[in-house]
Amino acid sequence: MMMTKFPEGFLWGGAIAANQAEGGYLEGGKGLTTVDLMPTGKNRWNVAIGYLDTFKPVQGEYYPAHEAIDFYHRYKEDIALFAEMGFKALRVSISWARIFPNGDEEQPNEAGLKFYDDVFDELLKYGIQPVVTIAHFDVPVHLVETYGSWRSRKLVAFFETYATTIFKRYKDKVKYWMTFNEINMLLHLPYVGAGLVFKEGDHKKQIQYQAAHHQLVASALAVKACHEIIPDAMIGCMLAGGATYPYTCNPDDVFAAMEKDRESYFFIDVQSRGEYPGYAKRFFRDNNLTIEMEAGDVELLKEGTIDYIGFSYYGSRATSTDPEILKQISSGNVFASVENPYLEKSEWGWPIDAKGFRFTCNQLYDRYQKPLFVVENGLGAVDEVTANGEIIDDYRIDYLKKHIAAMGEALEDGVELLGYTSWGPIDLVSASTGEMKKRYGYIYVDKDNEGNGTLKRMKKKSFYWYKQVIESNGENLD
Ligand code: BG6
Repeated sequence: MMMTKFPEGFLWGGAIAANQAEGGYLEGGKGLTTVDLMPTGKNRWNVAIGYLDTFKPVQGEYYPAHEAIDFYHRYKEDIALFAEMGFKALRVSISWARIFPNGDEEQPNEAGLKFYDDVFDELLKYGIQPVVTIAHFDVPVHLVETYGSWRSRKLVAFFETYATTIFKRYKDKVKYWMTFNEINMLLHLPYVGAGLVFKEGDHKKQIQYQAAHHQLVASALAVKACHEIIPDAMIGCMLAGGATYPYTCNPDDVFAAMEKDRESYFFIDVQSRGEYPGYAKRFFRDNNLTIEMEAGDVELLKEGTIDYIGFSYYGSRATSTDPEILKQISSGNVFASVENPYLEKSEWGWPIDAKGFRFTCNQLYDRYQKPLFVVENGLGAVDEVTANGEIIDDYRIDYLKKHIAAMGEALEDGVELLGYTSWGPIDLVSASTGEMKKRYGYIYVDKDNEGNGTLKRMKKKSFYWYKQVIESNGENLD
């Protein structure tokens, strides 16, 4: 039996996002949001990277976010199941377009505010801490259509109004916040991360880094506002984590791996240290990028530094400078990575690397010296329901067990950790593919890739396993 010591009060739980769980896409006055225009199937990828022809749903396409798993109507049932597993925390996101349907209104939508009041009350009833992401892969479509989304500086003020509104409303209920989910996703899936849509001839890199600056300023404003409005809260960043390994010890490979990591760390270097790092300034110079800043931005970034490092970890990455090796870039993940011959892969081609989790935790803690919060981790896999209605997901238990053990080792290494919310404790829509078949949950949801199914919830074997992990505060992983 593996034995690990986790601190008292460690926040065990799970993480979901509005756009992948709620559904109810036009209910309660909600406006259309970016993900509502992401179909499943072959057209999804093009939209995700920023090529979209129309700002309306298209007949004949299937949009999985419209109903998702109907958390909007079933949150009580789902939260009761999370409580049964003993969750101490549930990470959710607020859908911006439920609170400000167009994004640029002056007054919020009361029905949207009320919905999250109800969700938070339900969680608190069971002693589950809400951990809230302010923007998880959704921007009101009106802001995309009218202003070009995060290309525009105007978004900063709209976001500040939105963030301030929810801080004031939920200040007594929510003590853990995060600004932008996987903020570095903006470089990989610009529509998903920042609602960016490109036209022919656009200088993509310039637009992306300008949008990044806007998000970083918006994040700093939100952090400042959170500290003022809810002094006893913690607010963090959220990075799509996973260290990059050099393919060999050739110094060129080692340096390339560092540069790859810096593409991501750039964002949280700014959020955590409050200034653009030297390597970023050089990157802008070398690439002829000019980031427009307003007076006061430099000070603002310094004043709005985050309290903890939130991050997701699914697997490590690898890179090389050898053109032959680079040919083997794996298409499985949104983060292009050279195949690592030492690692197994998930059914979707994502490398599985528990040791890399310990490595990443150490790397992040060494770099920032701030508490870490693992806000996503898990295995997307196909589950089969047996004839007698059981779901025996030993492969998921195996993945999670090894990752939790690695996290325990990181604690022993001296890393400070606030909690662990595994991704998708209940099956939900995949962000990258739009599938339901790519399941992460302890709770099975009866729905397929085409949207058929009863939406019935069923406990998997991992449900009972995770319950026991939480009960023993991470000591009993077997
Ligand atoms: C992260 C996101 O990228 O990974 C989640 O924050 C996402 O929204 C998760 O669902 C897993 O990715 P996928 O593509 O398997 O859903």
